Parts: sequence; structure tokens; C-alpha cells
Amino acid sequence: MAEVILDRVTTASGTPNIAFIKYWGKRDYTGLNMPNNSSISMTLDETLSTKTSVVFSDKLKRDELYINGNEEAIVGDKIPEKSVYLKRILDQMRGLAKVKQNALIVSENNFPSSAGIASSASGAATLIVALSKALDLNKSPKDMSILARQISGSACRSLFGGIVKWNKGTEEDGSDSYSEQVFDDTYWPELIDIIAIVDPSKKKVSSSIGHAATVKTSVLYKARPAFAENGVKEIEKAIREKDLDLLSKTIMKDSNNMHATMLDTWPPIIYLTDASRDIIYGIHELNETEGECVAAYTFDAGPNAHIITLEKHREKVMDMLSDMVGVRRTIESHLGKGPRILKGNVSLINEKTLAPKITSTLS
Ligand code: DP6
Repeated sequence: MAEVILDRVTTASGTPNIAFIKYWGKRDYTGLNMPNNSSISMTLDETLSTKTSVVFSDKLKRDELYINGNEEAIVGDKIPEKSVYLKRILDQMRGLAKVKQNALIVSENNFPSSAGIASSASGAATLIVALSKALDLNKSPKDMSILARQISGSACRSLFGGIVKWNKGTEEDGSDSYSEQVFDDTYWPELIDIIAIVDPSKKKVSSSIGHAATVKTSVLYKARPAFAENGVKEIEKAIREKDLDLLSKTIMKDSNNMHATMLDTWPPIIYLTDASRDIIYGIHELNETEGECVAAYTFDAGPNAHIITLEKHREKVMDMLSDMVGVRRTIESHLGKGPRILKGNVSLINEKTLAPKITSTLS
């Protein structure tokens, strides 16, 4: 192992992903984030990107984490929920590299936190890439995917570009639960995700809490893992054959299925709003008019819609959205290449003072 150069700042850049077949429900409660079903997603391009810088230094009295200019607790078991897992992963990686120094981690999104787009996937993925490089651990993308999964499940898909499948795995230690690229970012360049923001506020129930509550209380959920597993195969086929009709139907049915299990959770978890429902009806009307499915909606743990379509149908989708009062803004993204280490002078950390360069929060 090469010697780790302390005080050298390493920065990684990466992007969120949107699942076509969703991860909802874990088979463990130990923070390993092992899912009950495989999932498949599209990694977005750098229209939405996250940069994360890390440095290990004797000058740091404790581990510090800044997200969008705000310091977040890195130890403790309450807020933020991911802090315990983050600490565990940080200690594990530091141990492997035989490094004892504390870490400063600074992460920043190029999209405002008020855009209503989750950044935990891109945040965790870029953190693992930056840590692996900074500690000279030479981790393979598969190993980095396993580490990112333990910070936030969906993050393990953001380790790769293009279309990415997260195999659920069956091993008790999660060693076979990781993601892999199934089609690269050049396979279907016309594919777009039009994100329709209807409510930029933070989600009411965190996904970590939601996963557990649904598994525990929903009767409908029992049928979900097999349904989703089959959905992953359908998505792979639809993309291989560039069959937008099949792709769209499969995406919409999976989103509806996941949100049905959320509503069936006790007490119910309802992420969709009237504006989300307007988009659902609007897309079905558009598909009806076209005589086949040319666009699909999909919703994560929140009310904002991701509309998956091809460039040639963009105008029709945009026309439909422009009539909706509930839609505040749209952001468009293609397939992205996945995370990378930034070379040169791109660092969010002041190398001399070891202070975060970020002073203001985007909003
Ligand atoms: C609805 O990855 O946020 O976005 O593993 O607890 O961090 P944790 O959950 P998280 O769950 C994401 C769920 C989803 C669907 C998906 O992205 O697959």
C-alpha cells in the first residue's frame, strides 16, 4: 500500500440516480441496508451534481462533516440518521489504511436543497470515492458500491454511470448486495428524465423510517419483492430493445406498487400530493392520445415527479406540464457517466487553514 499523504485534499464529483424499479424495504435492521428486492436505475448527468472533498490531518481535533455549508453531526445516534453508519464506514476505511487522523468532509450540491431532489445517493457515493482515493485503498467499484450502500442504500447505484442494477444478494453480511452497470451512458442517449418539482420541502417521513414501517405493517408489501424482481427483468429487456412502451409501463407500475405499499403502511405514509396526482393523470392522458406509452412518471419518497421519456416526446410532456399550476419548475437530465475524482484545484476545503470553503448555503 502506498503511503497516505495526509493534509492532501481529495475531491470527487458524482450524481443522483432515479430508480425505475424501486428499493423499498430492507431485510436487516443493522445498518447494512440489504434490500428485499433488486432495483434498477438511471444515473443522471451532471445537471445535478454533488462534489465531496475529504482531508485527513493531525490538525483536526475531531471528524467534521459539512453538507451545503452546514455542519452535521457525525457521531451520535439521532440526527442526522445516517451519522452512525457514516462513522462506522469512516472508521472501517481509516482502519484499513492504518490512518488515525481525523477527517474533514465537505459536500456541496450544484442544485439548491430547496429543489426537492434528494442528494443522499450522490453524497454517499462521492464520499466513498473520495475516501477510497484519499486513503489510497484502491477499492474496486463493486467494493465501493458495498460501502456506499451502508451509508444510504440507493447510493450504491450512484457508483456507476448509465443504467445500473443493484442485485439484492442473499449473503448475511451483504457481500453480494452491490450494483453493476448494465448499459453505459451512451446506450440510449435520447432517454431523458424531466424532473417536475411540485414541492421543494423536506420529506415528511424519512425513507429509513419508511422502509422499516412498510415491511413491518403492510399486508400488500408481501407481494412486492417478487413483483419488483420481475420488474427488473422487464426493464432490462425494455432498455436492451429500446422499447419505450414497455419501459414506461413497467416504470409506472412499479412506482404505483411502491406507493400502494406505503399507503398500506400503518400509520399510512403518503408522499404524493394533488399535484403529483395531476401529473399521473396527465401522463396517462398523453399516452392515451399517443396510442402507446411515450412517457412514464415515477416518484421516490416525495411528491416530485420524474418523467422518463425520449427527447422526441419532450415538447408534448412540457406542454402538458406547463398547464399545471402545481408544477413550480422542471429540470432535465440525461444518462450520466457516474462519479469521478476531480484533479487540479477543485476543492471545497481551504488547504492552508483546513476550513470548509463553503460559507453560504444554497437555497
Ligand atoms: C424511494 O436509499 O434513501 O428512493 O437505505 O435508508 O438510506 P436508506 O434509504 P434510501 O431509500 C430510497 C428509496 C427510494 C427508491 C430508490 O431509490 O430505489
